[in-house]
Amino acid sequence: MIKYIGSKRRLAPVLATMAERLGVQRALDLFTGTTRVAAALKARGVHVTAVDTARYAHVFARARIETDADTLDDGALDDALAWLQQLPGRPGYVTETFCRQARYFQPFNGERIDAVRDALEHELRGSPLFPVLLTSLIEAADRVDSTTGVQMAYVKRWSDRSARPLELRRPELLAGPGVALRGDACELAGRLGHFDLAYLDPPYNQHRYYTNYHVWETLVAWDAPEHYGVACKRLDSRDAEQKSVFNRRREMPRALAELVRSVDASLVALSYNDEAWLGLDELVAMCAVRGAVAVLAFEGPRYVGAQIGIHNPAGARVGTVGRLRNVEYLLLAGPDPLVREAAGAARAGAARTGAATPARSRRDVVDLHPINVAGGLSI
Ligand SMILES: C[S@@+](CC[C@H](N)C(=O)[O-])C[C@H]1O[C@@H](n2cnc3c(N)ncnc32)[C@H](O)[C@@H]1O
Repeated sequence: MIKYIGSKRRLAPVLATMAERLGVQRALDLFTGTTRVAAALKARGVHVTAVDTARYAHVFARARIETDADTLDDGALDDALAWLQQLPGRPGYVTETFCRQARYFQPFNGERIDAVRDALEHELRGSPLFPVLLTSLIEAADRVDSTTGVQMAYVKRWSDRSARPLELRRPELLAGPGVALRGDACELAGRLGHFDLAYLDPPYNQHRYYTNYHVWETLVAWDAPEHYGVACKRLDSRDAEQKSVFNRRREMPRALAELVRSVDASLVALSYNDEAWLGLDELVAMCAVRGAVAVLAFEGPRYVGAQIGIHNPAGARVGTVGRLRNVEYLLLAGPDPLVREAAGAARAGAARTGAATPARSRRDVVDLHPINVAGGLSI
């Protein structure tokens, strides 16, 4: 999967184990991003509906969630990958914009991205293989990029990985049905029917996914947009409809509260980290409208960009990163017995997978024990 701010690599197995132990059959992942959580749930036999506003996230969800690996023509997929892999490079929009004007990929890889994307457009649009192959292309491009993990800047000297040749690989696909939807979580949530589990992982600050991952947006839209600035961002990034309410400090709390209140699910699981505009106590209060609330905390390394450092558009290091670790919270909300059972199952999942480290040492962390908001937070 691609490098992605906020991707829940560590939490996905915890949520999947929890869902399995609770016997969850239908789940909703309202901000699916890379589809990590949705895919982990689907892998445990859950029917998942995956929603996101981003075009690339919708493509990932069509490939991993909507595509049933059992019915996809394996031979045709292998043939298509082999054919695309041997296409000679042909310079186009990606080469000119993202390799010459900006420096996200080395030109020899940019030419191949152009050639493969054109071939997908002209030969395979409409095929069930299309989202799978486009996912493969985006993941291949991500492996040879020269960024710090977001597409607002690129590093001054080509990254080592950018010198490797673009290699299309078969994305991991899962058996079974699922649904992928592109749209606004706030508009869709009430129209999708009832779910056993709804997972909410919205953006929590001003950093916009649309601009942070504009290259992937353009690779999917394939519309050669006008662009601006050193990062060559899409001109339509400035349009109001591309801006999420979750990136607006004043509007976000109300939107999130309404979403938590109205989503039609027995159990709501809400992700949050300690770099967000909202405090944990505010989120607990939001969740309390559904009944009991449990808070689990996990500590771990921050997203990849923080590990690499802060750079200006010319690629020069311009600051120091405050810290390299953060705490991720998982709030579980619903009827008291269900929340207690879910918290126990999630803790068991964390212990079993070892993927998430329960936070224990920080003073401001609520420990793993389920708490009932009526009793107050035990910090
Ligand atoms: C924190 S990320 C989710 C990461 C995801 N859980 C993962 O593991 O990859 C937040 C996601 O919300 C999406 N988003 C932002 N505003 C949205 C909205 N109004 N409705 C649906 N998705 C939205 C972004 O495109 C982004 O993919």
